[in-house]
Amino acid sequence: MQMRNDISDSREREAYDALALRALKGLPAAYAPYSGFHVSAALLCADGTVYDGVNVENSAYSAGICAERTAIFKAVSEGKKEFSAIAVTGCHKEWLEKDAYSSRLELPDYCPPCGVCRQVMREFGAPEEFRIILAKGPAEYKVYKLSELLFDSFGPENL
Ligand code: THU
Repeated sequence: MQMRNDISDSREREAYDALALRALKGLPAAYAPYSGFHVSAALLCADGTVYDGVNVENSAYSAGICAERTAIFKAVSEGKKEFSAIAVTGCHKEWLEKDAYSSRLELPDYCPPCGVCRQVMREFGAPEEFRIILAKGPAEYKVYKLSELLFDSFGPENL
């Protein structure tokens, strides 16, 4: 894991800053009337394009979907299969009303991806290459390799 300030390559840092910002800006769009917990993700494709995703809940609870999978499934549906990184953000809806969020896009905590989303990332992301950015702010985040969040994982090459 690397903290944002430990990233020496300025181009890499700028790319992650932009991705974190994009995920933070997406938080209001989450549809989370049942949990009240908004999650927003921004997925960076190898070709430089970015797909946004939010959690979309459902009155039949298990029919809901996480933000990360929304972003990945949107991208795959558009023909993309090579991904570099995903930024993930989340907070309770009350936080979105706060001055700290509206003026600085600052969150109280990190939002780590659930196990199912980690496995979906594994389908398209190489464990040592794909990066997961957990962001609290546009310049406050930590960066994991997929292999750190999904150790010794099962993937397409195991079949
Ligand atoms: N959620 C995500 O969108 N991504 C995750 O990785 C963790 C959980 C959503 C699902 C549900 O809508 C809400 O957060 C509370 O669990």
